[in-house]
Amino acid sequence: MAMVEREIAQLRDELRRHEHLYYVLDAPEITDAQYDVMMNRLKALEAEHPELVEADSPTQRVGGKPAEGFAKVAHSRPMLSLDNAYTEDELRAWEQRVKEALPSTETVRFECELKLDGLSLALHYGPGPAGRGKGAQSTGAVLLRGITRGDGEIGEDVTTNVRTIRSVPLRVSAADLKAAGMPEEFEVRGEVVLPQAAFEKLNEEREAQGLAPAANPRNAAAGTIRTLEPNIVAQRRLDFYAYFLLRDGEMFLGDQTAALAALRTAGFRVNSHAQTVESMDGVLAFIAQAETLRETLSYEIDGVVIKVDSTSQQRRLGFTGRAPRWAMAYKFAARAGVTQLEDVLFQVGRTGKVTPVAVLQPVLIGGTTVTRATLHNADEIGRLGVRIGDFVRVERGGDVIPKIVEVVQDASHARGERSIVFPSLCPECQAHLVKVEGEVDWRCVNAACPARIREELLHFAARGVMNIEGLGDVMVAQLLAAGLVRSIPDLYCLKDKKPELLELELVGEKSAQALLDEIEKSKGAPLARVLFGLGIRFVGERTAQLLAAHFGSMDALMAASPEELEAVNEVGPRVAQAIVEFFAEPNNRELVERLREAGLTFIAEKRVTTSTLEGLTFVLTGTLPTMTREAAKELIERAGGKVSGSVSKKTSYVVAGEEAGSKLEKAQQLGVAVLDEAGLIEMLRQGAGDVA
Ligand code: IVH
Repeated sequence: MAMVEREIAQLRDELRRHEHLYYVLDAPEITDAQYDVMMNRLKALEAEHPELVEADSPTQRVGGKPAEGFAKVAHSRPMLSLDNAYTEDELRAWEQRVKEALPSTETVRFECELKLDGLSLALHYGPGPAGRGKGAQSTGAVLLRGITRGDGEIGEDVTTNVRTIRSVPLRVSAADLKAAGMPEEFEVRGEVVLPQAAFEKLNEEREAQGLAPAANPRNAAAGTIRTLEPNIVAQRRLDFYAYFLLRDGEMFLGDQTAALAALRTAGFRVNSHAQTVESMDGVLAFIAQAETLRETLSYEIDGVVIKVDSTSQQRRLGFTGRAPRWAMAYKFAARAGVTQLEDVLFQVGRTGKVTPVAVLQPVLIGGTTVTRATLHNADEIGRLGVRIGDFVRVERGGDVIPKIVEVVQDASHARGERSIVFPSLCPECQAHLVKVEGEVDWRCVNAACPARIREELLHFAARGVMNIEGLGDVMVAQLLAAGLVRSIPDLYCLKDKKPELLELELVGEKSAQALLDEIEKSKGAPLARVLFGLGIRFVGERTAQLLAAHFGSMDALMAASPEELEAVNEVGPRVAQAIVEFFAEPNNRELVERLREAGLTFIAEKRVTTSTLEGLTFVLTGTLPTMTREAAKELIERAGGKVSGSVSKKTSYVVAGEEAGSKLEKAQQLGVAVLDEAGLIEMLRQGAGDVA
């Protein structure tokens, strides 16, 4: 095999291994920066040698062309639905039916899984290109197709989008197939979910765009998987949990427990909360645990799925029209309550968007006292036909803000009297509210609106942004009211206004100094945080980090063209456009300049700082187990180290792989320290630990 081909193959294997560690096992071994180095190297090599690009290369997850629409594909066997149970009695009745349909000599084991609130997907795998044909050596199985459930019989081919889901292996190696006892051709079914954090981020973006928020993560996931632009899908961070393993449309392992184990071995993400139990009591205990667990999960579940574990029993139990007799969905009760709407407030957000917020008679829902709920926008108020004084049904899902789902109209709940009037003027600055055609939200477009400035300041100071402790609601309100602060850079002038600061209510010498110290400290915040703090549309925490790492300085970012911005992983045309627009605005440029003058350092935080290996010289020799020498060189240089071709007394370390020859000998003669690849990675990582 030629050198390049070998390097490409090594990089792919290595990237696949790290993707699995990161996305499936949640146990990364390298930093994002190290991953990027390898990925960029692979991209560069593939660009130089397009003939070597293969569909299952890790580079091929993103950047697929927009689809024209989705082809319709028939399922190998129908993707059925499940019957639902809501009570213990219903579950016991089902157990009874199962047992009656089987010989009384057989015992029944149940396999319990969380019911993930997403949408189901079928993935087809088959031999890769080199594995086809007679006598060909197996190269494992590659992802051939991803199909949505559709109507259960016929789904849509969404392969391009499925490829962007990092927990979906694009390929399963021959060795892993062997270890899992799986054939080269198989089908995996499972659930696509949008994790809570990604859902919230998506809704923030939608809000910034003036679009109605997605109602729940399931709808958002369903919309995403059917998006025609794979780039957008890639940004959304969908996740896939496998729960069925089929061959020719049939389960082929002895039981469901074994199928999940095989899937896990083959590199699929399998939900870790599955459990096999011997009785219905075990099932009930699992359900009780799941209800508690639900509050802590980073994705939504809406119940528990109980499956008869044995494949042979499943076969004999068979199906009714729409659902298998061997499985049942236990659905959690919706977390909802009824209470009275006392008033509606209109809140102005950072972007000027005006959101109606319901003030509720406090009500306990799923262990939390709810006093506020969102009414989203004017259209929603109209749709609900809600009036002040009405009794309303409020639902709470995951971490999402509670929302009003309907007005309760019956004999015991009188209708409210007062209708809700959506304001035409900004409730804070009295400017006329504006609604852009095609958008649902009314906005205050006055950039000097105190409400907007207040929200901008609060966002800037927030934990996870500039981390200015002590600059919360009350303080910001006071600073604004006293005219001490009118914009973000004014915060950094406060130190010259200490006497005025001390005049504020609730501010003593100590707290004033503490606040000033916090503000001072924030000057050294890394570039990524400042960028996030500026509140540029679509630039959330992660995007800010990627931008900072890529451009390395505020100036480079400000000067970047849309094309240069789009070269950053995960940055698409929309985000690029928003950044360019932001920095084209003279007020924003001035804001950045004032921050710079105030002493903000805008230091780009690289996970591996330039100083980590600064002053150290490395010599690479032999074949490293997982990295090419080229990749190792890049990592060392990015961390500030030097790589030289020959060993001398000045060499700090020799990194030796297999078949290291004379250079290793020379190192030993000169007493130069020798590292293996793992040692090098550890060294790079420690450096990362210093600054992370
Ligand atoms: S098994 C024959 N297992 O729930 C269909 N489904 O209400 C068997 N779901 O369409 C599906 N988590 O989208 C199964 N661990 C799980 C699940 C699960 C979520 C969804 C799936 C299915 C729906 C039925």
